[in-house]
Amino acid sequence: MPAPEIHPDIQEVLFSAEQIAERVRELGRQISAEYAGREVHLVGVLRGSALLVADLIREITVPVSLDFIAISSYGSNTRSSGVVRLNKDLESSVEGRHVIVVEDIIDTGLTLNYLVNLLADRSAASLEVCALLDKPAARKAPVQARYVGFTVPDAFVVGYGLDYNQFYRGLPYIGVLRPEVYGG
Ligand code: PRP
Repeated sequence: MPAPEIHPDIQEVLFSAEQIAERVRELGRQISAEYAGREVHLVGVLRGSALLVADLIREITVPVSLDFIAISSYGSNTRSSGVVRLNKDLESSVEGRHVIVVEDIIDTGLTLNYLVNLLADRSAASLEVCALLDKPAARKAPVQARYVGFTVPDAFVVGYGLDYNQFYRGLPYIGVLRPEVYGG
């Protein structure tokens, strides 16, 4: 097969579609093993996690239910400010459920910190986090995910759900955006 064309705004591909698929399979296997005999309730954080949720749910072999929550963090186009807002709450209660929050990336950690605090009061049986990407160098809040796909450097990454100004989410790989695109 010929090598796929790389988008001209992408400086470097960090993880190919094949590498992502393999890692998501592994995460699904790990979750299925660790939750054997239980039901999992996935909570996808819109919008970035949409692609990961769609792939991950198909790799989990224990019974799994699904809900979404929408949160936005405000700031410049390339960095979040710490101001986090709940745009859409969950449809169902998490009470008594084994919740796994699914995120595309943990950057400053402020979004996840807000979400974990929000859910902490809602009597879930357990609460864990699965993030495809972890960027520890950018952390401002002390959050950690039990399931992490890849650790990434402190660069602006897009693709597989991650956007810049709402674009690039559909790229099948994860890549570093050229700084000239966002004026960096
Ligand atoms: C992105 C991403 C995470 C969050 C991570 O969401 O999907 O939810 O930022 O950043 P943080 O760790 O610094 O809080 P964004 O608010 O850009 O919305 P989106 O999911 O719609 O892209």
